[in-house]
Amino acid sequence: AEQTFIMIKPDGVQRGLVGEIISRFEKKGFYLKGLKFVNVERAFAEKHYADLSAKPFFSGLVDYIISGPVVAMIWEGKNVVTTGRKIIGATNPAQSEPGTIRGDFAIDIGRNVIHGSDAVESANKEIALWFPEGAANWESSLHSWIYE
Ligand code: GTP
Ligand code: MG
Repeated sequence: AEQTFIMIKPDGVQRGLVGEIISRFEKKGFYLKGLKFVNVERAFAEKHYADLSAKPFFSGLVDYIISGPVVAMIWEGKNVVTTGRKIIGATNPAQSEPGTIRGDFAIDIGRNVIHGSDAVESANKEIALWFPEGAANWESSLHSWIYE
């Protein structure tokens, strides 16, 4: 089944949004298959955001991600990568629709609360980077009530 990597950034943890965010993904019908706190080191943050290393905001982005513990998660379900990005909302909270996580809980692009993989390929790469131990192995007994 398709999986994505979701990370609650340090501001989301500090602001007490962990439960709210997990709840939104759970209620949608996605399955939580990995969950842990991580104190991200600079080199690891640079690796996670390597595609953005040429951007002018890169060092500020890395400072932001290492400014406190993050919550790293694996979520699973049909189209979870694309739908997860919709649940999260546009990168810049000024453009995020109300009803999305960033639209409801964020103001500035450099404090946008949450990360979600942008494609199945990057999801698999990020899951391998953040969860070398692998995902949890469980199946929901409600599956056929959610998936046709
Ligand atoms: P992630 O889910 O965190 O990867 O965000 P995204 O995929 O919506 O955006 P992208 O991967 O392009 O950028 C990664 C992160 O860098 C964003 O979530 C922002 O926190 C930050 N970022 C992106 N663009 C800008 C910018 O123009 N200025 C600043 N200050 N930060 C930016
Ligand atoms: Mg991104």
